[in-house]
Amino acid sequence: MEAVIVKQPGDASQLAIGTVDKPTPKPSELLVRVHACALNRMDLLQREGKYPVPPGASQVLGVEMAGIVEACGAQVSQFRPGDRVFGLMAGGAYAQYCVIDASLAIQIPVDLSFEEAAGLPEVWYTAYQALHLIAGLEHGQDVLIHAGASGVGIAAIQLARQAGARRIIVTCGSEEKIAFCKGLGATHAINYRTDSFRERVAEWTEGKGVNVLVDFVGADYWLDNIESLGLDGCMVILAFMSGVSVPEFSIAPILRKRLRIEGSTLRSRSIAYQSALRGHFVASVLPGVINGELKHVIDRTFSWRDVAEAHRYMESNQSRGKIIMTID
Ligand SMILES: NC(=O)c1ccc[n+]([C@@H]2O[C@H](COP(=O)([O-])OP(=O)(O)OC[C@H]3O[C@@H](n4cnc5c(N)ncnc54)[C@H](OP(=O)(O)O)[C@@H]3O)[C@@H](O)[C@H]2O)c1
Repeated sequence: MEAVIVKQPGDASQLAIGTVDKPTPKPSELLVRVHACALNRMDLLQREGKYPVPPGASQVLGVEMAGIVEACGAQVSQFRPGDRVFGLMAGGAYAQYCVIDASLAIQIPVDLSFEEAAGLPEVWYTAYQALHLIAGLEHGQDVLIHAGASGVGIAAIQLARQAGARRIIVTCGSEEKIAFCKGLGATHAINYRTDSFRERVAEWTEGKGVNVLVDFVGADYWLDNIESLGLDGCMVILAFMSGVSVPEFSIAPILRKRLRIEGSTLRSRSIAYQSALRGHFVASVLPGVINGELKHVIDRTFSWRDVAEAHRYMESNQSRGKIIMTID
């Protein structure tokens, strides 16, 4: 079968369509003919040789896709060949065929296209996990979400709104992204290129700080993040796009404010954990996506033949929402 291959670890010019073995489903798995897959930032790192693939996972890039079931493993009873499915996997989505554990697959609702379904799992699972399962966001609380116009940020803004958060404060890198985030339910937004989120959060929360903070930026924001957290605040660290080292830092505020700081990942989690998240998504998020209450935003769709261009577009930080590739 055809799949995206990485000729040498490196930049987007190393991506090409090549030939690899078609995967064989295990007894608990589905073989899926992929029609669309979604890009994620970890794909960029994996392409550069900086993201270790979980043991046993496909070396082919891509962790989420939508397509049609071609064959079912012997233990699979809930799906049949011909079913339209989507889901999150440990790898292998940038290909004509992939395998996915049946417990992680979801029937595509009739009103959703392959392109819409392909990019649902990663961002919504991650935002749901951060706000609800880790931070335990409660009605009336204040939340700060960095990279508000990122795929995960878009989902987090709307889940915070759905949960009845009081102030939903976001940071982003342009006025256009600020307007976009406000359209999704952010109550306050800061352009981090021209303003200090630490100062605005203090002003808008009357010096109290936020209850919940979702961070993807890491080193550059660490000190201001700690300052922006209120008493008993919880910060969920999901990425460190600016780096990992903070030269000098007093741990006193962690104790004084009784802070909780928790990191999380998705790809390295067990199938049982991911399957439980899938359950939360199907029960609490997917109905809102179908009825339009929750907006799933696709920024751009590329043919997978233009995979290098799609990666460069993600690297340019211009996108607001998911970048999708269709697979012929
Ligand atoms: N741990 C997990 O379980 C998990 C799961 C999913 C995703 N993630 C991570 O979460 C992050 C967001 O993912 P995504 O798919 O939502 O990303 P995305 O849609 O590609 O958006 C990322 C945005 O972050 C902003 N950004 C980039 N570098 C930055 C920097 N140095 N400082 C401040 N802002 C920066 C840019 O927007 P601006 O124009 O606003 O700067 C960029 O458009 C990624 O790093 C991803 O790997 C983690």
